[in-house]
Amino acid sequence: MEPGKRLTDKVAIVTGGASGIGAETARVFSAHGASIVVCDVNDAAGETVVGEIEANGGTAIYRPLNVTDEAQWTALVTETEDTFGQLDILTNSAGVSGRDPKQNIQTTLNAGGLVEEQTLEKWNHIMAVNATGTFLGTKAAIPLMRRAGGGSIVNISSICGIIGSFANAAYHASKGAVRIFSKSAAIQYASDHIRVNSIHPGFVDTPMTAPGHANPEIAQIRMDATPLGRFGTPRDIAMGCLYLASDESSWVTGSELVIDGGMTAS
Ligand SMILES: NC(=O)c1ccc[n+]([C@@H]2O[C@H](COP(=O)([O-])OP(=O)(O)OC[C@H]3O[C@@H](n4cnc5c(N)ncnc54)[C@H](O)[C@@H]3O)[C@@H](O)[C@H]2O)c1
Repeated sequence: MEPGKRLTDKVAIVTGGASGIGAETARVFSAHGASIVVCDVNDAAGETVVGEIEANGGTAIYRPLNVTDEAQWTALVTETEDTFGQLDILTNSAGVSGRDPKQNIQTTLNAGGLVEEQTLEKWNHIMAVNATGTFLGTKAAIPLMRRAGGGSIVNISSICGIIGSFANAAYHASKGAVRIFSKSAAIQYASDHIRVNSIHPGFVDTPMTAPGHANPEIAQIRMDATPLGRFGTPRDIAMGCLYLASDESSWVTGSELVIDGGMTAS
């Protein structure tokens, strides 16, 4: 698909922008004319994404951001406004699955532990990054978007925010929080023309799912549950982000866009 210019003159912050869905969203937003602030805790990968965007003629900067730190959010939005003059779009894609990051191949369907095995520390970490990070980003973005006359916040939840499964309950809970938080924020800020929507990906090939998909048995179970017969690509999700970020969705707020190859249709 040839890039159009569906985000001309807009400014976007993309968290988790160093990898997977966030990185592809940053690339797609840039291809459609937005200036991008790529944020992550993985500085080297974030700088690489910015380099790719610039090599393709786009405008982007990388800024380190731990989404759980409110002071870092305050500094980030201030710098964004100082640099680009406004903020129109925020995509909260930073996330953690709860899987042991040292595990290269997932050996069990439940990589994060059953509820009885879950430590409070791990629960708090998953909730902090996935749910609290989305809250803090939304909170920080609202004043700038109000000054810009409106904006679009796109929160990456998951099918795990809609249905339960054998997988990590903390991850499900955090993504459920993102889903319903987005609806509440949408209602509170509709009068400011700030739209808030959530996206619910199914199984997408990214570094987050790579250890699971490296185990043929787990990959097969997930594939069998996906009627369209393939895992998603980051581009599949980024195109949904593009729609919700653009003015084409100007009457869409508080909605949940499921992009899952049909997995939750039955
Ligand atoms: N891949 C999937 O199948 C899938 C499915 C449903 C939902 N999601 C969600 O999509 C989002 C993107 O995931 P992905 O698959 O691209 O994974 P990914 O691991 O490729 O990307 C996640 C990014 O978030 C960053 N991150 C982690 N903690 C952070 C923090 N505290 N502050 C800032 N950045 C942090 C990581 O460094 C990484 O770059 C996540 O919220 C994930 O839960 C993914």
